[in-house]
Amino acid sequence: MSSTKTPDNRLLSAIPYLRTGGVVADIGTDHAYLPIELCRRSICRRAVACDINEGPINAARANIRAAGLSDRIDTLCTDGLHGVEPYAPDDILIFGMGGELIVRILREAPWVRNDRIGLILQPMSRAEILRRYLWENGFEIRGETLSRADRLYQTICARYTGNAETFDEADLLVGREDFLLASPLAGDFLRQKIAVLESVAAGKRAGGADTAYEDRLIASLRNRFNKLQLQPTEETI
Ligand SMILES: C[S@@+](CC[C@H](N)C(=O)[O-])C[C@H]1O[C@@H](n2cnc3c(N)ncnc32)[C@H](O)[C@@H]1O
Repeated sequence: MSSTKTPDNRLLSAIPYLRTGGVVADIGTDHAYLPIELCRRSICRRAVACDINEGPINAARANIRAAGLSDRIDTLCTDGLHGVEPYAPDDILIFGMGGELIVRILREAPWVRNDRIGLILQPMSRAEILRRYLWENGFEIRGETLSRADRLYQTICARYTGNAETFDEADLLVGREDFLLASPLAGDFLRQKIAVLESVAAGKRAGGADTAYEDRLIASLRNRFNKLQLQPTEETI
């Protein structure tokens, strides 16, 4: 059965990065909730909803039809960005996949190395692998957003410039300081990351392993946390 659910904050985090009136490609669209919402709000003119699996594509088609948007949203059953270029998307959304898979999808589509195409990426895991790929391969990260749904999520907006960028370990893990500190969710996010690193370091220490990487990162994240002028709680900091 199909439905046209309203997207949550995680999916809606794409909106500020989209150009009004453009063409959007949603990769791994699943039920097509996001392109349907973007067309309903007249944020995009047209969309192509893509997924590698027939099940999600069939659900997407049914939802698009039910929303009366079959004339504005195409569907495409494909792996990643293969076959998407002829749709000439202005903005490409890849939400809800692991960072490694997003990197593989971008790597296999050299045509996205184009300064006119916006990439709005929401890794479910391994965001550090995605940021490293972007910075080392000539993409500029132009903005980042934290959103809260069932947990905290990071959304990354990037575009190709051709210039590789420098970064440190903390930039990889939590994004550039200026984007992070601008978010009202930065304190919660940093607390979580520090708690995870402390737990990993404690495990390693118990096993006699070196914790220099974790110790450096914890210090760097605490430094960012202190800039927020929030009081860390004893349990987490
Ligand atoms: C967890 S769902 C995310 C759905 C939606 N984008 C969201 O963020 O809520 C992941 C979707 O990506 C699709 N998918 C996985 N690997 C893919 C690939 N290589 N290319 C296109 N779609 C893929 C899956 O079939 C699934 O529908």
